[in-house]
Amino acid sequence: MINRVKGFKDILHEEGKIYEKIIGIAKEFFELNGFKQITTPILEKTELFVRSIGETTDIVQKEMFTFQDKNGEYLTLRPEGTAPVVRAYIENNLYAYGNIHKFYYYGPMFRRERPQKGRLRQFHQIGIECFGSTSPLLDAHVIYILDNLIKNFKIKEALIEINSIGCKNCRPGFKEELKKYLFKFKKDLCNDCQNRMEKNPLRVLDCKNDTCKEVVKNSPKILDFLCDECKTHFEMVKKFLKYFKVDYNINPFMVRGLDYYTRTVFEAVSTLLGGQNAVGAGGRYDGLVNEIGGKNIPGIGFALGIERIILLSELESEIKNTDVYLILLGENVYEKGLEIYQNLINENIVVEFDYEMKGLKNQLKKADRLGARFAVIIGEDELKEQVLLLRDLKESKQEKISFQELLKKLRS
Ligand code: HAM
Repeated sequence: MINRVKGFKDILHEEGKIYEKIIGIAKEFFELNGFKQITTPILEKTELFVRSIGETTDIVQKEMFTFQDKNGEYLTLRPEGTAPVVRAYIENNLYAYGNIHKFYYYGPMFRRERPQKGRLRQFHQIGIECFGSTSPLLDAHVIYILDNLIKNFKIKEALIEINSIGCKNCRPGFKEELKKYLFKFKKDLCNDCQNRMEKNPLRVLDCKNDTCKEVVKNSPKILDFLCDECKTHFEMVKKFLKYFKVDYNINPFMVRGLDYYTRTVFEAVSTLLGGQNAVGAGGRYDGLVNEIGGKNIPGIGFALGIERIILLSELESEIKNTDVYLILLGENVYEKGLEIYQNLINENIVVEFDYEMKGLKNQLKKADRLGARFAVIIGEDELKEQVLLLRDLKESKQEKISFQELLKKLRS
């Protein structure tokens, strides 16, 4: 027996339908907002992710599925969607076609993390990326879209959190202050944070370790160090969020695990997710296009993890089961039975029937196992009388009706 790779999973039974439903809801809303779909390859040159996500991040240091191709080139299964979309934007010269570009995408991402609830090594993201505007109105619109999706996905106990992590002018000053503060509590920090402290002190703010969290509680807050431009930008984002009627909390310790962010960062979190509390997250990345070799074009976006949406959403109960299990008893009734089957599916009613021509009891059991709402039973006697038996499997009631009445009855 050859098993699947650790942290990877098969999508089975009804789950496939839930993925489709979630993607469908997101696509519809993105398109309502003028976003165009973009699909990039799942394999990219390793350097793309090192340059964009950042050399000292957990993703680049520990979590990428990287291998050397036969020609010696290093390739990586994409751990996220932003860098590939930025690469495609530059490589295809998309900025030549007008000012603002709004893309959406969905597909598998790969991170070699420790698998646990809500954390897989192959997971699926839905995301958007917008290029060409530094306006805080765009930040608020993007956060509004995330908030709206969370509501459309019927996610339990979700909340939007926002922060500003400043720009290349004001962040260095904050980093120095933070380093000074953390140095005083070095012995209380976990091993990872003692290392992070030097190279990337912002990452300490994000640590899930309890003693690190204690230290972080009283640390300097980036919002007190923002330059005037970043401060005004953040104030405007908050104002527009009010106009969009989005409720949010400010989380001054949110820094995100990827290095490309500037100014606004945000997450949709749910307490029900435990340690992995973000179901969706994103932010502004005004320097990234330039960093990857394009013009100086600002960007902003977010991504949601489909598996985390599934863990939290109530959509599962809305997935359509079999409506009708058609029970045909005897070869003679098949001609009429299959005509009824075709009439029903033409009306978008989910119908299944048995291929083995088994008896009534056996077929009723199958209908039950499928969770069918109704059974339609036709035997030789019913055919002679030009009627059928409509059995309500939920209410355990049965009635005899004419063939013509079936559709009307099912509709009601
Ligand atoms: P991220 O926070 O790394 O951001 O991931 C976004 C979402 O992907 C998470 O909130 C989570 O739902 C899901 N996710 C991440 N890792 C895993 C995992 N191992 N297993 C299951 N789900 C996971 C980004 O990826 C950025 N590219 C978002 C972005 C787009 N920023 C700007 N534009």
